[in-house]
Amino acid sequence: MAERRWSELRQALQLPKTLLSIYKIVREDFETAALDEYLWSFWGFHHEPHDLHYRARPWQKVQLRAIEPQDVVGIEVWEMALMLNIAMEDEEPIPEYTHQSGEGFRFLLPKLGRYMGKNDEQARFGADHDLEWCEGAWCAEERRHSNTLARIIERLMKMPPKRDNPNKPMAVTADEGAALQHLISRQTSEWKASSSYVIMAAHATGHLHNLIRNLERDEIKHLCIMSAADAYLLGPRPWRRFLDLVKKGLGNYTSQKKSRSGGDAFGTNPVTAIEGIAAHLLTEFWLRKWLRTIPLRTLTIVFEMPSGIPELPAFAPAPQRQAQIDEALKNGQNKRLKLDRWEPEQKRRALEQRRFEESYAGVIEETIESQPEGFNGAESPGSQRENELRKLIRQVTRTGTKKLRICLLGRLRDFQVRNNRHVLAHGSRTRAQ
Ligand SMILES: [Fe+2]
Ligand SMILES: [Fe+2]
Repeated sequence: MAERRWSELRQALQLPKTLLSIYKIVREDFETAALDEYLWSFWGFHHEPHDLHYRARPWQKVQLRAIEPQDVVGIEVWEMALMLNIAMEDEEPIPEYTHQSGEGFRFLLPKLGRYMGKNDEQARFGADHDLEWCEGAWCAEERRHSNTLARIIERLMKMPPKRDNPNKPMAVTADEGAALQHLISRQTSEWKASSSYVIMAAHATGHLHNLIRNLERDEIKHLCIMSAADAYLLGPRPWRRFLDLVKKGLGNYTSQKKSRSGGDAFGTNPVTAIEGIAAHLLTEFWLRKWLRTIPLRTLTIVFEMPSGIPELPAFAPAPQRQAQIDEALKNGQNKRLKLDRWEPEQKRRALEQRRFEESYAGVIEETIESQPEGFNGAESPGSQRENELRKLIRQVTRTGTKKLRICLLGRLRDFQVRNNRHVLAHGSRTRAQ
């Protein structure tokens, strides 16, 4: 016990340094260019499936065998192993979640359902025909997490961890209430996963650090896509979303402390708790800062443009069931396009803005075209050209309407998301459209 107090004291003395590393990791991994790329990769998955990059986020090469206990810094190796173990148990039941998400989101946001899993009929068909469980990018990325964690633990503790206490997923149905709850629950999990890998990365060097960053960036990608889906379905609601996530997160925390291996030791180290709170707040801050800049136009294209990937060969439902499904899909889309789940005031403003942009589409195009270069050169967020264009937009709209300014600034961000660093590196740039 005394030894544990000493190690906590040592960790407390290192706290400023650890917090600085946490800050640096979050700053780097939540930069606008990265989040733009993640959001657009959702579009890419549905429309350019031949690009492997869209099927699973590429990992930085790491040598697992080079990982040693000395790579853990600022905390005891057993404590790092405990954190990794809790994460591994969270990651273990992924095949079940793919079913929850595939079925849960099938009407709420079908493209997201497809990205994350299979619905009931598809899952049954897959099981009957021994087909791969899920080809979605989310599955491909999640699938590699628990095994990676188990192998890291083995490297640190010199023996493989027990894998007999996985977290139990909840059953989810496709009805509105359950699907919305599932949306909150997934965001909470991705938030927690990103933040806890940030802390682990801050306590690691060398190959261990790089490997944890791989996991962490996968989770940030998921958090980014899920939060964008939240913004699309429910409108801009930073504080209400935050409250929903915190409530859900605290509920999970209490039940995990009771039911999980290492539960007694879980959350008792006050210094790790401070690091945890800091990481959660920083990730939320930078995510929110980015999300605010994504225009509804981009979200609509990303989540609504009919998917180009072929339908899975599921058994054909009875005509009556098929009619029900089609009806539910149509209603779902209507509800989304009419922004029916948004707060009334937000909805009114967004619809007004959309009407404005539709009625003045010609003028808006002309304004953009009047620049000899259009938005070209402003692809990178934070570039000099972007700053110039922002200044120019503010100038030309100084006397005009605020709606035109919002529209042009939105179009600039839309252009950046579509021409993100992955798209540019592969030479398939798109025009401002
Ligand atoms: Fe994961
Ligand atoms: Fe994830």
